[in-house]
Amino acid sequence: MDKGGHHKHRFPCASHNFLLLIMAIGLVELGLSCPKECDCEHLIVNCTAKQLEEFPMGIPMDTRQLILKRNNLTYLPSVELNLLIDLVYLDCSYNILGDSLEATFIALPLVYLDLSHNNLSKITTDTFYLLTSLVVLKLSDNPNLEEIEKDAFANNTGLRQLDLSRTALYYLDVTTVSQLPSLRTVGLSSNPWDCYCPLKEFLKWVIESDLYFTDEENMTCSTPLHIHGELLRNTEPHINLMCFTNLYQRDYIFLMLVGFVIFGSGTVVAWLTGVCVLIYDRLCGSTDEDEEDDDPPPPPKPKKKAEAQVKMVVLSKEHGFVLLTGAASFIMVTHLAINVSKARKKYKVEYPNMYSDDPEHGKIFNCIQRAHQNTLESYPAFLFFLSAGGLSHPRAASALGVAWIVGRELYAQGYSTGDPSKRSRGAIGSFALLGLFGTTVCSAFKLLGWGVNPKTWSCC
Ligand SMILES: *[C@@H]1O[C@H](CO)[C@@H](O)[C@H](O)[C@H]1NC(C)=O
Ligand SMILES: *[C@@H]1O[C@H](CO)[C@@H](O)[C@H](O)[C@H]1NC(C)=O
Ligand SMILES: *[C@@H]1O[C@H](CO)[C@@H](O)[C@H](O)[C@H]1NC(C)=O
Ligand SMILES: *[C@@H]1O[C@H](CO)[C@@H](O)[C@H](O)[C@H]1NC(C)=O
Ligand SMILES: *[C@@H]1O[C@H](CO)[C@@H](O)[C@H](O)[C@H]1NC(C)=O
Repeated sequence: MDKGGHHKHRFPCASHNFLLLIMAIGLVELGLSCPKECDCEHLIVNCTAKQLEEFPMGIPMDTRQLILKRNNLTYLPSVELNLLIDLVYLDCSYNILGDSLEATFIALPLVYLDLSHNNLSKITTDTFYLLTSLVVLKLSDNPNLEEIEKDAFANNTGLRQLDLSRTALYYLDVTTVSQLPSLRTVGLSSNPWDCYCPLKEFLKWVIESDLYFTDEENMTCSTPLHIHGELLRNTEPHINLMCFTNLYQRDYIFLMLVGFVIFGSGTVVAWLTGVCVLIYDRLCGSTDEDEEDDDPPPPPKPKKKAEAQVKMVVLSKEHGFVLLTGAASFIMVTHLAINVSKARKKYKVEYPNMYSDDPEHGKIFNCIQRAHQNTLESYPAFLFFLSAGGLSHPRAASALGVAWIVGRELYAQGYSTGDPSKRSRGAIGSFALLGLFGTTVCSAFKLLGWGVNPKTWSCC
């Protein structure tokens, strides 16, 4: 206290003399030249709100502080500006500077640079790379500023304060800001951040860094829509969910399309092959008959042919039912898939989320999803049992197959009520699958010739 009081009394006298001296020198130097629109005070040139459209001429070369705030400047002439070799403070806020700043700042010892409230559209690596003394850089409120090139501030290693608020920035490469060793304060608020996977590293940096972010409650995502307005700091779970496979929504759609194309072409190829085999069989059969008509074959040959035919002709007319059952099962599975996608829309569960964590309707959606998934889980076994069991017992297998399909529909309907215990309505499906399993085993025994005794293996 005492000490402070002492200072208070002593200091003004000393500084008064000092100021007078400086002002005298200043007047001698500046008296000759000061732009007529501006106020020149020792080493400070103040041209605030003078409706300037051009950079003022005749600024003293030893000017340290130049204020061009609130004018109508559209560009800064590089030559005139860089004559001011002592300039450390430049305020060009509230002008209409465009995107022509690339070769503007050459050898200035600028420490403070304010370019806020202008019309900049792009910052490149060449804009500030020679301003190695820069400590404060304000680029906020440039509504057309969409891009800042990677490493645009790589040379500005002394930068402590960087303001990029209220621009049109939606993306920023994380190394642009993360590698500034002196950075303390960053403004990133009210920008339309596009919180998709390319921004992943940047968001991680925001979450983990201990810098001071100005106006943090306005530092939010703009897109994707389902996290619109979410604070950048709280995006981690969304990013993990969206990006852990490194796939975007359109990739999933593409993969689904590819899947469908492969499935479709496979079906067509299988069908064509079947048709070819049938035609081939018909043709061979008719030529055989022709041959037999033309010349009587030797005695041992027909026997062999007959045997071969017995082995080849496995499918009987009833196998048509088996095939129809298989086709019907696909319709049932598709129906369940459609149910899921309807539920997705109704309960607003975005792709690619498999399940919903919505406390209100999440359970119903998850039940519908489970009904489909559970059916898919047993679908391969069903198809195999149906086709294998259908070899020996086409009618039984078809009947059991229909029972399974009905069972799965009942199961899905019960499950979709949101009460999982109601899925037991489809219990018939489980029994049918068991029966199909039995027919498959029977087919195997029949093929292996083990079930020939009709008393023990009556079904086979
Ligand atoms: C510059 O001039 C404006 C008014 O013309 C004034 O409000 C402002 O304080 C001045 N700035 C400095 C640093 O002198
Ligand atoms: C300068 O811009 C202001 C608005 O920013 C405008 O009102 C004024 O008319 C402009 N002056 C000139 C000379 O164009
Ligand atoms: C700002 O820049 C854009 C191009 O980036 C231009 O179309 C627009 O006219 C400029 N606005 C002003 C006020 O100069
Ligand atoms: C600034 O960056 C450029 C490359 O962009 C480099 O060549 C130059 O040496 C750097 N200058 C300083 C002073 O670091
Ligand atoms: C956030 O932005 C809105 C307008 O976009 C503004 O009204 C509000 O003051 C901002 N919040 C803070 C804390 O600055």
